[in-house]
Amino acid sequence: MKNYELLDSGNLRKLEKFGERVIVRPCMQAIWKPKLDEKIWEKADLIFERDSKNKWIHKKKTSLKKTGKEGFWNIDIEGIKLSLKLTDFGHIGFFPEHIFLCKKLSKIIQDQNLPERKLNVLNLFAYSGLVSLFALKNKASVCHVDSSKPSILWAKENIKLNNFQNMNIRYILDDAIKFLKREVKRGSKYDVIVLDPPSFGRGAKGEIFKIEKDIVSLLELSKKLLSKKKSFIIFSCHSPNFTKITIKNLFESIFDNSGSLEIDELLLKSEKSYNLPSGYFSIWQKNENKYSDNL
Ligand SMILES: C[S@@+](CC[C@H](N)C(=O)[O-])C[C@H]1O[C@@H](n2cnc3c(N)ncnc32)[C@H](O)[C@@H]1O
Repeated sequence: MKNYELLDSGNLRKLEKFGERVIVRPCMQAIWKPKLDEKIWEKADLIFERDSKNKWIHKKKTSLKKTGKEGFWNIDIEGIKLSLKLTDFGHIGFFPEHIFLCKKLSKIIQDQNLPERKLNVLNLFAYSGLVSLFALKNKASVCHVDSSKPSILWAKENIKLNNFQNMNIRYILDDAIKFLKREVKRGSKYDVIVLDPPSFGRGAKGEIFKIEKDIVSLLELSKKLLSKKKSFIIFSCHSPNFTKITIKNLFESIFDNSGSLEIDELLLKSEKSYNLPSGYFSIWQKNENKYSDNL
């Protein structure tokens, strides 16, 4: 990850480098003491604070271009360009722990690509498009679903930044569950379904999404859309209740023993400090697939 580095974490905060910017943000899981000297933390360009009101503090006169309240800049991750922006929630359009899953996805596509047709990837809760970009780079076709217009526009911007606009991608602005129901009726099929649901979200028409209430429907509908032979579900989540055993029980209750399941903690690795736990992921695959993971 040439352009991203987790420099340190601790005291409920994390210190990260995104290209030319060093950023401090709140991090509830970092309950330990930081490893690096406070002086290094003080050199950060930007701090996001949630104390009284969510706000970004620009510590230096950085070269961030300003678009209203937001600054934006580009980084390069594994050959993929991303446009980053400061949002009111402290997000910047990139969850670095997903790079690990994008590498897994790339390997699946490379191993499974069919000579007769392109592998078909459904990217749900697709946000600014990281997963879609990796899928396109590996010559898969992509259906990109998100309920927020600004997120879809951000993804389109990233697609353009990488000159992928003529590749095989369709954008769907809709609630994930509504879209899945329509796809089941149409008899659509996908080889790989990627889901990274938030704990709480809203559909395009304000539908309320709560992961605990909706995850079973999401997975049951996804199961109906899987193509016959080669199919995978890549699931990740950052909700604190979703532990390894919770995810195992969830998948077993829906898929019985019809496939194999890999589950592990999503980790943000740091060369200079502690690795940071960042939720869990699971990869379910039909048994007949020959998927060897040498990452
Ligand atoms: C945590 S982000 C996903 C991160 C993304 N997978 C990535 O790798 O960068 C959550 C996304 O889900 C979208 N979302 C929230 N509720 C939704 C719903 N009911 N249907 C579809 N998308 C939804 C949000 O607009 C947001 O873009």
